[in-house]
Amino acid sequence: MLRVLLCALLASACASCPPRCECSEAAHTVKCVSRELRDIPSGIPGYTRNLFITGNQLIRISSESFRGLENVTNLSLSNNRISALDSRAFSGLPRLRSLDLSSNQLALIHPEAFTVQNQSLQELNLSRALYNHSSVMDLATSLRWSSLGTLRGLDLSNNGLVFLPPRIFSHLGGLRRLQLANNSLVALHNATLSGLERLEELDLTLNALKTVPEEGLRELDSVPGAVLLLRKNPFVCRCGIEALALWLNRSQGRVGDAGGLACAFPASMRNTSLLAVGALALGCHQGGGGADLALQTSYVFLGIVLGFVGLVFLLVLYLNRKGIKKRVYELRDTCREVWEGYHYRFEADPGPRPSQGAAGDV
Ligand SMILES: *[C@@H]1O[C@H](CO)[C@@H](O)[C@H](O)[C@H]1NC(C)=O
Ligand SMILES: *[C@@H]1O[C@H](CO)[C@@H](O)[C@H](O)[C@H]1NC(C)=O
Ligand SMILES: *[C@@H]1O[C@H](CO)[C@@H](O)[C@H](O)[C@H]1NC(C)=O
Ligand SMILES: *[C@@H]1O[C@H](CO)[C@@H](O)[C@H](O)[C@H]1NC(C)=O
Ligand SMILES: *[C@@H]1O[C@H](CO)[C@@H](O)[C@H](O)[C@H]1NC(C)=O
Ligand SMILES: *[C@@H]1O[C@H](CO)[C@@H](O)[C@H](O)[C@H]1NC(C)=O
Ligand SMILES: *[C@@H]1O[C@H](CO)[C@@H](O)[C@H](O)[C@H]1NC(C)=O
Ligand SMILES: *[C@@H]1O[C@H](CO)[C@@H](O)[C@H](O)[C@H]1NC(C)=O
Ligand SMILES: *[C@@H]1O[C@H](CO)[C@@H](O)[C@H](O)[C@H]1NC(C)=O
Repeated sequence: MLRVLLCALLASACASCPPRCECSEAAHTVKCVSRELRDIPSGIPGYTRNLFITGNQLIRISSESFRGLENVTNLSLSNNRISALDSRAFSGLPRLRSLDLSSNQLALIHPEAFTVQNQSLQELNLSRALYNHSSVMDLATSLRWSSLGTLRGLDLSNNGLVFLPPRIFSHLGGLRRLQLANNSLVALHNATLSGLERLEELDLTLNALKTVPEEGLRELDSVPGAVLLLRKNPFVCRCGIEALALWLNRSQGRVGDAGGLACAFPASMRNTSLLAVGALALGCHQGGGGADLALQTSYVFLGIVLGFVGLVFLLVLYLNRKGIKKRVYELRDTCREVWEGYHYRFEADPGPRPSQGAAGDV
């Protein structure tokens, strides 16, 4: 009450600091850390450039959440319980450059959630921010619709992502750094990385890549300026890995951790450097993949089985040759009898019908 009264009397006291927050005018910084706040506090001073509302209980951010904060460039809402981002949730922050939403539970992300009139956003941290893999569809839509052409850095690590929708990053033409570490990505499909012409760093460490077939290698080659990090993936050093091993040999300059990549399976190859696998030749068919080899093996097998069946058939014929001869003679005799019977009936008996017809005419 006293504070409100003071505010009414002295305008400068109002500009001081919201309750449960710490403000530093000299550093242009306001921090409201671990104070169980459920909403963005009102009365945040206009000089604020760095705003931290972290470790609280925020649940939803709407276009009403931030008003009149034209100087804020850095906003951290990390470690809250934010599950919904409404349309233009940050449009009250026209100079926002860096937005940290890490460690939240985003389930509903409006297609225009990240739109800021000025297109000023450069850094977006969504590390451990998605509620579950289903949120990635909302996110993909939002990354396309929110006019994020100026974004330089995007952190999507620690999210349990299983796949990335095609063209998810296609509207982020200015992106330089993309963190995808510690997800569960099993493959890079066509068009996953399309639109990232200016990428300089792509972190794929600690995912679930067992190999990277031609399709994925084409994707990695579609971002030629990017340094790639691929460590701590469970690479399986069987026939399917050859393409990756060859690619690695000629792309070592681009793969920041090429020397650290190792086989995880089979057990006999564990810890073998992936660079050495290329030289070892895994006993796979050259040129073709493992599937080709399997197909050829099965054709050979089929040929042997058919040949064997044919031999047995011929043997049976040979052993039975007397019986067969007898049968053939019997068959011939039967045929002859039938033929003779036919002749006998039709030649001895010219048929009743023509005579009947003739009789009818008369
Ligand atoms: C934003 O900062 C500028 C320069 O420091 C200042 O003149 C202006 O009043 C600030 N805006 C608000 C709403 O306080
Ligand atoms: C847009 O952003 C730029 C750079 O961050 C800033 O200088 C400019 O004042 C902003 N424009 C408005 C209308 O806020
Ligand atoms: C604000 O964000 C920029 C990146 O846009 C970063 O370089 C800078 O260190 C941040 N400042 C603070 C106080 O967090
Ligand atoms: C994003 O936030 C996490 C957790 O706060 C932090 O560890 C990480 O360094 C941030 N990412 C970037 C690119 O700054
Ligand atoms: C994600 O959570 C939502 C809501 O609880 C649920 O309906 C959906 O099936 C979950 N998706 C996954 C992939 O677990
Ligand atoms: C990977 O992400 C999960 C959350 O998705 C987290 O619990 C785990 O600690 C992370 N692991 C590492 C090594 O960062
Ligand atoms: C990926 O592209 C290649 C050639 O561009 C095509 O042959 C292949 O079928 C595509 N894969 C998928 C899953 O669309
Ligand atoms: C790359 O391949 C070439 C030709 O097969 C081989 O001579 C070279 O040793 C390989 N490099 C590495 C690092 O394995
Ligand atoms: C593989 O390497 C790790 C760490 O470098 C080590 O702890 C582990 O014992 C190695 N395993 C084998 C089978 O060599």
